[in-house]
Amino acid sequence: MTREEAEKKLEKFGQEHVLRFFDSLSEDEKQELLAQIEETDFSVLTETSVAEKKDERVISPIKVLQLPEIEKKGQNLEEKGLDAIRKGRLGAVLLAGGMGTRLGSSDPKGMYDIGLTRHVYIFQRLIENLQDVVKKAGCPIHLFVMTSEKNHDKTVGFFREKEYFGYPEDFVHFFRQEMVPATDYDGKVYMEAKSRIATSPNGNGGWFSSLDASGLTDVVDKEGIEYLNIFAVDNVLQRIADPVFFGAVLESGSECGSKVVRKNAPDEAVGVMCLKDGHPSIVEYYELTDELMEEKDENGEPAYDFGVILNYLFSVKALRRIVNDRMPLHVVEKKIPYMDDEGRLINPEKPNGHKYEKLVLDMVEMMNSGVPFEVVREKEFAPIKNRTGKDSVESARELLKLNGYVL
Ligand code: UTP
Repeated sequence: MTREEAEKKLEKFGQEHVLRFFDSLSEDEKQELLAQIEETDFSVLTETSVAEKKDERVISPIKVLQLPEIEKKGQNLEEKGLDAIRKGRLGAVLLAGGMGTRLGSSDPKGMYDIGLTRHVYIFQRLIENLQDVVKKAGCPIHLFVMTSEKNHDKTVGFFREKEYFGYPEDFVHFFRQEMVPATDYDGKVYMEAKSRIATSPNGNGGWFSSLDASGLTDVVDKEGIEYLNIFAVDNVLQRIADPVFFGAVLESGSECGSKVVRKNAPDEAVGVMCLKDGHPSIVEYYELTDELMEEKDENGEPAYDFGVILNYLFSVKALRRIVNDRMPLHVVEKKIPYMDDEGRLINPEKPNGHKYEKLVLDMVEMMNSGVPFEVVREKEFAPIKNRTGKDSVESARELLKLNGYVL
């Protein structure tokens, strides 16, 4: 792209300031910036209103597959799931493209060591959990790991250095998620260097289109993988490729399954499974009115009591159907390092602008059917978001110990 073409493109989106340091750049830097302008989709910044639009749909309770029923059918479901795993029908996708800013480490979150008397890296914990199923099934499961431009090399290097924590290397595939520009509150993109627009990963909802763009869907096809279990990097207790969960989704014939836990308080800050206009969806905690929070089902239990834990199963066929559909971009307020007008890099102490993210929860509602599947909170939900306090390294350690895990 030439400078003139770049100017035209930027003008169209009101981002002319991106070239303000251009004349002071070296020839290489100029080319780098022009290439970035060429590949950046600025139009996404004008579409964010989609996510902000008020949701007028009618919310009603959804039937959740609850623990007593799961226990009753447990063995059957497990066999069904294991059988399908042995046929290679399931793959796992680790969502590890986030920035983990709340944890405050500059390394990828999965490299964080939660051990006390020995090393226990988050990635290691997740691989151990997956290995439990691999052992039971007697065959490896393909694991796709989503990284971002910001943490890809470190993540891949770490897996190599640790020899994939004993997992067969041929079954681990890395792909990068796409990036979007980060802006100030007026929608003007920040610069993270004189020759680079500030960008951030486009949220965890872009995972399938990124997997597809990386070419790894060829592996999915070749191996006959029909379902993908996606899971967050930060829940160190979760069961991955859980055959009972998989069996339940297969039995229900649903396009999607969501692991859920009972909320610990009516106003707990988690997204809750529900129906929106009769369609399986997730209602965010801040959308849940007091009235809905207090509503009871026919058994007198809270009607909206099951929160999602970012562990879902999706049918590949259904994912392919929606891969080109537009997903809303959610605006998230964050701290974004930027170049000021004098060309100094500023690391803000408070949020100073917006990042734009696609979210997996929007994918759930793009599916034609879905089954919420209850799991025991204390056994499967130990998220690490912060260093201390709620959802932290400390609270996760306690939960691991409670489950007999030696740290
Ligand atoms: P979070 O919503 O906790 O975001 O991610 P984060 O970026 O990791 O952490 P903070 O908010 O900056 O502290 C939930 C899951 O989604 C993944 C994360 O890696 C984590 O597994 N994720 C998030 C992505 O893969 N890509 C993204 O762009 C965002």
